Amino acid sequence: MKLAIYPGSFDPITNGHLNIIQRSLSISDQLIIAIAHNVQKTSLFSVEERLEQISRSVPKEYADRVKVDAFDGLLMDFAQQQNAHMIVRGLRAISDFEYEFQMAHMNKRLFPQCETVFMMTGEEHFYVSSNLVREIARFAGNVTGLVPEHVEEALKGKYKK
Ligand code: PNS
Repeated sequence: MKLAIYPGSFDPITNGHLNIIQRSLSISDQLIIAIAHNVQKTSLFSVEERLEQISRSVPKEYADRVKVDAFDGLLMDFAQQQNAHMIVRGLRAISDFEYEFQMAHMNKRLFPQCETVFMMTGEEHFYVSSNLVREIARFAGNVTGLVPEHVEEALKGKYKK
């Protein structure tokens, strides 16, 4: 039974994340999508809102293999508590590489039994990031096709206020 964790901020979840989630299930039996409470980042959506958005976005056919959770503190402490075999991260571009490389090595040091597996983000999503989606939505730009429809609505709701 291979358990994978897909950690991130998911503020908000994008179609690029969903692509990684779907592909992660081909190399794992169970997947935990883990939202980090990031004290250094101010988030647009609360952890509860993100939990709900992610749960709604995961296709029903995967529901029995996917759990959405949130964690505080170190990812590898959470991974150890869950007995995870691997951490999945999406790589979009060379600019992601340095940070991911450092984090993967540091995480390996903290919990050597757990591997970090990188997936190249699908070519139709490689330029999509939550940061850019938020910025476009903030200025009432079009984010159709970048995020699930209900997230698009939630973004409109946030920036209308
Ligand atoms: O989607 P993001 O913001 O790129 O995800 C980054 C995340 C949440 C995976 C990373 O910041 C993280 O693991 N945070 C938890 C705290 C932690 O373990 N820090 C040490 C990393 S070596």
